Amino acid sequence: MADITEAPEWTALAEHQAALAGRNLRELFAEDPGRVERMTVTAGDLCLDYSKHRATAETLGLLVALAERAGLRDRIAAMFSGEHINVSEDRAVLHTALRLPPGEALTVDGQDVAADVHAVLDRMSRFAERVRSGEWTGFTGKRITTVVNIGIGGSDLGPAMAYEALHDYVDAGISCRFVSNIDPADIVGKLAGLDAEQTLFVISSKTFGTLETLTNAKVARQWLIDALGDGKAVSRHFVAVSTNAERVADFGIDTDNMFGFWDWVGGRYSFDGAIGLSLMIAIGGEAFREMLAGFRVIDEHFRTAPFEANMPVLMGLLGVWYTDFFGAQTRAVLPYSQRLSRFPAYLQQLTMESNGKSVRADGAPVVAQTGEIFWGEPGTNGQHAFYQLLHQGTRLVPADFIGFAEPFEDRAGMHDLLTANLLAQTSALAFGKTADEIAAEGTPAAVVPHKVMPGNRPTSTILVPKLTPKTLGELVALYEHIVFVEGSIWGIDSFDQWGVELGKVMAQDLAPALTSEEPPTDAPDASTAALVRRYREMRGR
Ligand code: F6P
Repeated sequence: MADITEAPEWTALAEHQAALAGRNLRELFAEDPGRVERMTVTAGDLCLDYSKHRATAETLGLLVALAERAGLRDRIAAMFSGEHINVSEDRAVLHTALRLPPGEALTVDGQDVAADVHAVLDRMSRFAERVRSGEWTGFTGKRITTVVNIGIGGSDLGPAMAYEALHDYVDAGISCRFVSNIDPADIVGKLAGLDAEQTLFVISSKTFGTLETLTNAKVARQWLIDALGDGKAVSRHFVAVSTNAERVADFGIDTDNMFGFWDWVGGRYSFDGAIGLSLMIAIGGEAFREMLAGFRVIDEHFRTAPFEANMPVLMGLLGVWYTDFFGAQTRAVLPYSQRLSRFPAYLQQLTMESNGKSVRADGAPVVAQTGEIFWGEPGTNGQHAFYQLLHQGTRLVPADFIGFAEPFEDRAGMHDLLTANLLAQTSALAFGKTADEIAAEGTPAAVVPHKVMPGNRPTSTILVPKLTPKTLGELVALYEHIVFVEGSIWGIDSFDQWGVELGKVMAQDLAPALTSEEPPTDAPDASTAALVRRYREMRGR
């Protein structure tokens, strides 16, 4: 298979970049009054203004041609129909099936996956309702008031992010806490102040073999038994979300209280299924289904809209544009919403575990750069921390700004001030301020260079009416599909994660050396052996 970088469309883009690199956004806006209208696209409730990108109609034509060359249209169809596009694990990639509408059929590998999805959703809804109504009680008969989700990676970041995002929709007096790290400080801190009689643990792990999760779950189980004085309490206070019933049973959780999913759902694509159980208990089955409807709107848009008006396609292609033709290393995601404070962390796993690959799906090394480094903080906090580098640093950092028109609750016009900041930042990044403009304000000549704002810094602005379950679903689906577009252009398998395995195995191997009384003999290298010795000295071993 020829590498995408050998395609004439790639060469055309490289030539085009050379011509465009010296142009700035002030010029592009001045010479094209229709630019903003043309470079605005809607998908469901999301409105994207991508006019502040270093791109013209020609750029977009060339990028779309690249997408066609990469076979993106066929790849989209292949994903939605359940072909095994996760080649290294020989699996279908069907997170889109998690939000299929009731009544729609999808049979994959001889299995009616739509029926399976709805059966689990219905069980989740019934269970969530029992907990919310107080019908499901703890061992001593008291109602549940706190749900502790124990999981890590995709079994934590999605529900944790969404719980925070939808905090205003938590309506049954049940709050959630999320434990992920194997650092004991995490679980100790999260258990502090909890009443065991009123706490439900949701042990979330696709494999049910993850060290962090199982270790934390054991600590939680012991804490519960110590508090309630009876091992029989576990069945009322522990439920599981997993694909592995055998391991769930081995842990001592009744599989009647297990909510399943399937190998065709990647961990980082899973919180709209059973991994979202804690979220569903907090916000209710109805709001959860509204969130699924939001995902679905963007799925349909992605599947059917022409590439020129397809939001995930355009944003994915612009990601490739900056990564491969401008040498950008990172992409900032800057939600102007405190409620989305965990969104950048969530996106880090979604995007970087998916596209941080250096071989193509066929095993050949990639030639292009892959995998943007995603990072970010909510505005306006980021403005007072790292925006200096965005405005005047030497690096090009394309950024996605996400804003909401309506707050859940406003105080003293704060929300308009928040939005004014978002708009001011994207304008300043795009158009900057020239030396002449600064000098004309009477600035001393020696200070002028320090105050010059170069501008020409590309941003997307996504404006959303309000942060709701539905629009959260839309936003997450948007980024899921952006990842897919980029991975398709780069020709990589965005759905495996072999790169995380070696470190996990080595940690298990190293653990005995840290606790043993014997001198470390089997450290993997001299540096690690020395660090093991030093650690043991510090711990007095
Ligand atoms: O270590 C990476 C990873 O495998 C992620 O892909 C996954 O989301 C996370 O670990 C947790 O895995 P599990 O849900 O099987 O515990």
